[in-house]
Amino acid sequence: MERTLSIIKPDGVGKGLAGEVIRRLEQAGIKICAMKMVRLTLDHAGMFYAVHRERPFYSSLTEFMTSGPIIAMVLEGENVIQRNRELMGATNPKEALPGTIRRDFASDVEKNIVHGSDGPETAAQEIKFFFNDLEIQH
Ligand code: RTP
Ligand code: MG
Repeated sequence: MERTLSIIKPDGVGKGLAGEVIRRLEQAGIKICAMKMVRLTLDHAGMFYAVHRERPFYSSLTEFMTSGPIIAMVLEGENVIQRNRELMGATNPKEALPGTIRRDFASDVEKNIVHGSDGPETAAQEIKFFFNDLEIQH
């Protein structure tokens, strides 16, 4: 069993898409074993996306991620890192396949509704960033 971190970003929450994202995860047979709504500070958003510190979109991205509440979730299942990324679709909604969350709902490459960890190491780090062991159901 694998775990990954999913985030419904401020645009997803703001557009009332939390239920739709959760429905798609559940319909795919993915188990949600932790969930919380939080509003990130700029410092926290900067830490979370530290890997993109040198990228030109970093300050815009971190400001966007603090623009409203987000919903962080721990997902569990076989191959769930990749399966979640498939449900999300490509970063740029124009390149995302039809039927993916980003293709169906994202407005642009930044405001793209959801985040998903991209590998086992980042998944472990990102889950720890939001949740302690007591907050994750087994
Ligand atoms: P995420 O980390 O949020 O799941 O997205 P991702 O792996 O598909 O994309 P990544 O390359 O990790 O980029 C992180 C987030 O930064 C914003 N972004 N903006 N303006 C731009 O060119 C640009 N590129 C990326 C997006 O919000 C992207 O999801
Ligand atoms: Mg990423």
